Amino acid sequence: MNIEKQLIENAEKIEQELLRLTEASDVDFAPVLEALRYSLIAPRAKRIRPMLTLEFCRLFGGQERAALPAAAAVEMVHTYSLIHDDLPCMDNDDLRRGRPTCHVAHGEATALLAGDALLTYAFEVLAKNEAMDDRAVRDAVLTLSSLSGAFGMIGGQIIDLAGEKKKLPEELLLKLHDNKTGALIVAAATLGCLAAGLTLHDPRTVAARRYAKGIGLAFQIVDDVIDATADAETAGKSVGSDKKQHKTTFLCYYTPEEALAYADRVTEVAKAEIAFYKGSEFLLALADRLIKRKF
Ligand code: IPE
Ligand code: IPE
Ligand code: MG
Ligand code: MG
Ligand code: MG
Repeated sequence: MNIEKQLIENAEKIEQELLRLTEASDVDFAPVLEALRYSLIAPRAKRIRPMLTLEFCRLFGGQERAALPAAAAVEMVHTYSLIHDDLPCMDNDDLRRGRPTCHVAHGEATALLAGDALLTYAFEVLAKNEAMDDRAVRDAVLTLSSLSGAFGMIGGQIIDLAGEKKKLPEELLLKLHDNKTGALIVAAATLGCLAAGLTLHDPRTVAARRYAKGIGLAFQIVDDVIDATADAETAGKSVGSDKKQHKTTFLCYYTPEEALAYADRVTEVAKAEIAFYKGSEFLLALADRLIKRKF
């Protein structure tokens, strides 16, 4: 297996799907369509979440045409979350995916609407997926909506804001990371399993979710380290933002080296959840790569 090649091929397929799904135009709607495409089709986007959807579908013997729209839907929810996360009322950042943030380039009101449009369109795309049976579509909608909502990603974002005013206890910091970042990564893996025809209770889906929860926590720990130690050009996004906003992050409790060692341990446990499935090499290598990433 050539992981580099597979990463590039997956990212290209995801980009093609996103382009296909966002090609419709209307002169009167143009400002919001341009703004959402600007954030969604950005060359520096890593496409980690949709890649998990594709790869779990592949691992469990599903068809790519069932997974691709689901993968695109996850990336739309993720991109909406980034647009809103960068707004002046949230993290107030001006660089994202190697470009000025959506609100800097398109104005705050249009950026807000572009985020809303991506969020709602994600569910339209899921519901229209004819390569998945009705039961799987229902479970995909349930999974993505619940994990990105108030008891998932949004819940994590509200704890993140609470962590600007005071230092959160370490237990609450873990809940923050599990929700603001882990939840959508769990959704991405779950949708891959559903696209492969597995149910939510299938032991393979359960294993995929455990792996995703672990790599999700590790992912946000590394993100905290990147914010504190990288330069903006390498990161492709604003850095030093957590310190500026007095956020509670892993670096309130650990040095960067200790935080990375923590991410390493969590990743090893996560990998063990899926290591015995034949064909899991790419997902195991991806987990390792994510904790070594520089952006
Ligand atoms: C950034 O996610 C937001 C976090 C949850 C840390 P990514 O690091 O996956 O950003 P993109 O999608 O590659 O831009
Ligand atoms: C963002 O977390 C999480 C979501 C968008 C839900 P961060 O605020 O740490 O992400 P970056 O560092 O801006 O990418
Ligand atoms: Mg944030
Ligand atoms: Mg942010
Ligand atoms: Mg961050």
